[in-house]
Amino acid sequence: MTEAWREANRANWDERVAVHLRSYDLAPLRAGRGRLTPIETAELGDVAGKRILHLQCHIGSDTLALAQMGAEVTGLDFSAPAIQAARDLAAEIGVAARFVVSDLYAAPEVLGEPASFDLVYTTWGTICWLPDIAGWARVIAHFLRPGGALYFADGHPAALVFDDDAVDDAVRGPPGFPGWFTPYFDTAPLIQDDTRDYSDDAARLSAMRTYQYIHPLGAIVSALIDAGLRLEFLHEHPAVAWRMFTALERGTDRLYRWKDKPWLPLAFSLMARQPG
Ligand SMILES: C[S@@+](CC[C@H](N)C(=O)[O-])C[C@H]1O[C@@H](n2cnc3c(N)ncnc32)[C@H](O)[C@@H]1O
Repeated sequence: MTEAWREANRANWDERVAVHLRSYDLAPLRAGRGRLTPIETAELGDVAGKRILHLQCHIGSDTLALAQMGAEVTGLDFSAPAIQAARDLAAEIGVAARFVVSDLYAAPEVLGEPASFDLVYTTWGTICWLPDIAGWARVIAHFLRPGGALYFADGHPAALVFDDDAVDDAVRGPPGFPGWFTPYFDTAPLIQDDTRDYSDDAARLSAMRTYQYIHPLGAIVSALIDAGLRLEFLHEHPAVAWRMFTALERGTDRLYRWKDKPWLPLAFSLMARQPG
């Protein structure tokens, strides 16, 4: 039986594909110079010649950027329209990459290929859609060859406690700041009906229900360790890849930061390696 969280989230992501094909800046990719954010660029190292599995690849923009950097990349996502868009984009720009439709938790069955990837890559807006963080970590460990590594970057869970849509104005921060939104240690899904999209203010989604999950930093790291990986670094950043709050401003490096002081970490990134 398909669970409610998966059905709702997939419908929501299916609908965002057309929006993001318009709103994502794909010009660098089309010009042959697809780029990651400065955070990944500084931390990832040379990917040329590596076999990479990109989990939750969406329309394939980062997958194809990694391919343009010389990697052999497989992108995986549960949204069939997203994977179709990724394949179309690959064909349009003439870049070789493999794209697979699969739910993340079904990926070991759908893809097979245990212990065969040099790098599992997954970034920006991924685990908030996944209810089981231990299962996520086991999927990653399944695919990494001995000595292979996970690179992961995402919104910091401490920042995800806050939102512009704070539940109670009485506990808002200073004017213009986000307010308290969801408890850090809440294990129940955050079920929201929201027609908006983060990359296009004008877009309105009809598949508006989503189920999201906040995973504490310790739970994420412990899940990776329990799955057998060794943590190599864990970095916290005062910058993030999308406009998490309206109070943030976009820098010339395309990252969003607090205007005055680095109040909260906005993102974190880590590398974790399969022993061997
Ligand atoms: C915010 S996007 C990731 C975007 C990517 N970082 C980018 O910039 O293109 C989240 C992706 O996760 C996918 N997703 C959500 N839940 C999933 C699941 N259970 N299995 C596989 N993919 C999932 C969605 O379809 C969506 O493409």
